[in-house]
Amino acid sequence: MNSTQPKVSPKPNGNGTACNKSDHEASAANPLLDYFEKNDKRLIHKWMHYFDIYHRHFAAYRNQQPRILEFGVSHGGSLQMWKEYFGPGAKIHGVDLNPQCQDLEEDDIRIFIGDQEDRGFLRELAETIGPVDILIDDGGHTMNQQIATFEELYPLVAMPGVYLAEDLHTSYWKGFGGGVRKKASFIEYSKRLIDQLNAWHVYRRPTGFSLGDRIEVDALTRSAYSMSYYDSVFVIEKAEIAEPAHRTTGNKSFD
Ligand SMILES: C[S@@+](CC[C@H](N)C(=O)[O-])C[C@H]1O[C@@H](n2cnc3c(N)ncnc32)[C@H](O)[C@@H]1O
Repeated sequence: MNSTQPKVSPKPNGNGTACNKSDHEASAANPLLDYFEKNDKRLIHKWMHYFDIYHRHFAAYRNQQPRILEFGVSHGGSLQMWKEYFGPGAKIHGVDLNPQCQDLEEDDIRIFIGDQEDRGFLRELAETIGPVDILIDDGGHTMNQQIATFEELYPLVAMPGVYLAEDLHTSYWKGFGGGVRKKASFIEYSKRLIDQLNAWHVYRRPTGFSLGDRIEVDALTRSAYSMSYYDSVFVIEKAEIAEPAHRTTGNKSFD
C-alpha cells in the first residue's frame, strides 16, 4: 500500500459535469461516465446522476496513487472502474458480504469478505489496510450498516480525504430501517453532524448568543471541511480544520 498522502486540495475543483448536458457531452467531459458507457468488463450498477458527484469530489485524486475503499463489490465492475479512473498506483479495496466476491481480486484490487454492520470486522479491516483517501459506502444501505461504517471508518479517511455514502434514499424506506424524519435513519444521523461541524459556535459566548445546549468541538469538527448533500448521496470532504477566526479590514462607514 502506498503510504504517501496525495497532495490534493480539499476543495471541490469544479470539474464535475453539468447534469443537463447531453449524454454525449457529459460523457466526454466525465471520464467515469465515459468508462461506464463503454464498459464491457465486469458489471457496474450505479444511479446515473452519481457520476457527476463522483467526478466533482474525486477528480483531484486522479493519478495521485490514492487508496480507495468501497463497500459493496457486487460483480466487481465499480472496483475496476475506480482502478482505471484513479490511474497507475491506485490501491483499490472492496468489501462485500458475499464470499463469491473474493474471486474478483486482481492486480491492485483487494477484496475483503465481511459484514459492514459488524464493528469488530470493521476494526480488523482498518488495522489491515490502514488509512484510505476515499471511502465509498455502496454496501447494503441499511441504517445500522451505514452508521456503523461511518462511526468506525470515518477516522480511517486521511486528511485531505473524502467520505461518500450513497443510496441514502433508503433512509426513507422502512425495509432498510428508515422512515421520514425517523431519528435512527442515516439522513437524520447525518443532520446532527452538521451541528457538529458548527460546534465552534455553540455555547462559547457567555453573552447570550447560544441557546444553552452544549456541543463540544470534537474530531469531526476538526476534520470536516465540508458536507455536501445530493439526491441520495452525502459527502464529507476532510481536511485539518483550525478554530475559525474573523477580522475586519477597511474603514467604518458609520459611527
Ligand atoms: C449495490 S451493490 C454494490 C454495487 C457496486 N458497488 C457497483 O457499483 O456495481 C451492494 C452490495 O453490497 C453487498 N452487501 C449487502 N449487505 C452487506 C453488508 N452487510 N456488508 C457488506 N456488504 C454487503 C451486497 O452483497 C452487494 O454485492
